Amino acid sequence: MIYSLITGGTSGLGYELAKKLVKIGKNVIVIGRDEKKLNNSIKELKNISKDSKVKGFQVDISNLLEVDKLFLNLKIDNIQIEHLYNNAGKGFFGSVEELTEEDINSVLNSNLVGLINMTSRVITHMKDLKQRCRIMNILSTAALVGKKNETIYNAAKWGAKGFLESVRDEIQGGNIEIIIFYPGGMNTPFWNDIDSGYNFSTFMKPEEVAKEIIHISLNENMLVSDIVINRRK
Ligand SMILES: NC(=O)c1ccc[n+]([C@@H]2O[C@H](COP(=O)([O-])OP(=O)(O)OC[C@H]3O[C@@H](n4cnc5c(N)ncnc54)[C@H](OP(=O)(O)O)[C@@H]3O)[C@@H](O)[C@H]2O)c1
Repeated sequence: MIYSLITGGTSGLGYELAKKLVKIGKNVIVIGRDEKKLNNSIKELKNISKDSKVKGFQVDISNLLEVDKLFLNLKIDNIQIEHLYNNAGKGFFGSVEELTEEDINSVLNSNLVGLINMTSRVITHMKDLKQRCRIMNILSTAALVGKKNETIYNAAKWGAKGFLESVRDEIQGGNIEIIIFYPGGMNTPFWNDIDSGYNFSTFMKPEEVAKEIIHISLNENMLVSDIVINRRK
């Protein structure tokens, strides 16, 4: 059975992407680390439509063993992923001089290592499907312009951009397409534990950004490969 898989589908933009997909009858798998958030999301997504199948897996995508186990389980359950949304991420705000080992590891792991792990394994999976497949990647405008106090986050997103552009070159001409989205600020739980001083009233609603991403990612007639979605300032 064919599914769309969303990393970080339990919160913010990822959850809105999952909702939109379920509403149009797509089968959806959401991935997150927090069991309670995962179970709540699965329950709410299942209530949206009886026409879609919804599954959830508790996976830390920065752990390659857990990612390999996920793909083994998908194979056992005869689940095929035609669309992967590499969406999971974690914010950071603070002086470069005060970075801790925990800041560096957690931000690089969620935004960069996890995306590398998922992309690496989904490519083998998708090549076997022998149909057109897509990998949608939620980076950030932080992957395009350096910004004070967001150093390690920007480093992760720039790293993801370099990785994805190289993967694109490596798989060119095959059955897999890579789309990269660069959203600006969104009002999501991403900012909950961050003291940024930003004015969130100007930030985009995740449901509106999700609507654009789904529209572009499901348009089979054209390939919009790189897109910036920014807020009015
Ligand atoms: N909010 C913004 O202003 C903004 C702007 C531009 C780009 N973005 C990007 O948009 C994406 C979605 O962010 P959001 O704003 O929706 O944030 P969010 O509400 O905090 O959601 C982040 C999601 O990622 C999951 N996650 C994080 N690390 C993970 C890991 N190692 N393994 C598995 N799941 C993991 C979280 O689940 P658990 O808590 O269960 O781990 C959660 O479901 C991120 O890539 C972010 O960088 C956000």
